[in-house]
Amino acid sequence: MTPVYDVVVVGKANIDYVARGPRLPAPGEGLTGDAFQEAAGGKGANQAVGAARLGARVAIVGRVGGDARGDAVVRALQSEGVDVRHLSRDRETPTGVALCQVDELGRKQILSSMGANARLSAACVRDAAEVFRGARVVLTQLGIPRDACLEAIRLGRSGGARIVLDPAPGLPLEDELLAQIDVVRPNVLEAQALTGVRIRDRQTAREAAQQLLRRGVKAAVVQAANLGDVLLWRDGEVWLPRFELTPIDATGAGDAFSSALAVCLAEGKPLPEAGRFASAAAALATTVLGAQSSLPRRAAVLQLLATS
Ligand code: RIB
Repeated sequence: MTPVYDVVVVGKANIDYVARGPRLPAPGEGLTGDAFQEAAGGKGANQAVGAARLGARVAIVGRVGGDARGDAVVRALQSEGVDVRHLSRDRETPTGVALCQVDELGRKQILSSMGANARLSAACVRDAAEVFRGARVVLTQLGIPRDACLEAIRLGRSGGARIVLDPAPGLPLEDELLAQIDVVRPNVLEAQALTGVRIRDRQTAREAAQQLLRRGVKAAVVQAANLGDVLLWRDGEVWLPRFELTPIDATGAGDAFSSALAVCLAEGKPLPEAGRFASAAAALATTVLGAQSSLPRRAAVLQLLATS
């Protein structure tokens, strides 16, 4: 019998090649860096690992190639206890890769190649219908084909799960889709793509969140760059705390946030508590190079919350 999952993640799985240098190269420029990491990544896989490290029962639905990179992605997820039965293997297309560049302030830019992620179809998601039954939260992103994302939302809702959308990469979305989302968590650029509002300060972040609620989402967490995040829902608004830690690499911080939020919602925690927990998880994720390597365990998040 398939167990009931706290969090089902439907999303991308990659191998990340991370290089750190003094600054991010300008177009046409070559720079010499000082650190390199090759590791399993991709937003979906990162969020699955992030939720598992926080103690959740997690299944992932995604697609990797039949290559050695795909084997590495599967091993990394299995070693964290994530159910990978529905991480399908594509014998014709290589595993997706991401080239991540990080500067000495911890800022990042990423160029990825979809590979097998592009062949995650609605049918693949339907084949995984068993893991949606009884699931508490379905967490998905826009980095997979749209039909697969829509099918994940449909199956999640029909099974009674709450739907968390990490709307990366930023794209405009129609209101019919937004109306099916319980919590959406855009960063500055994604919020602009979704709403047309240019986020410059707290007021513009709030405007973007208000627009998302008017268009049907039940709650929105909108980043106001380094001013923190506004969490807005029908009955309230809070500004999530910023935790002052020295950043090494922002890669994976958004994934730490989304997975922590999903875990708290699966546990039935109120939104403000979930948001605070997620902020702490994201802050911790900025203190380690790489994405999956930086995702914190529950004890570390609780310690940061207790000492801040
Ligand atoms: O969110 C970080 C992730 O984005 C990286 O692991 C990389 O694979 C890209 O998809």
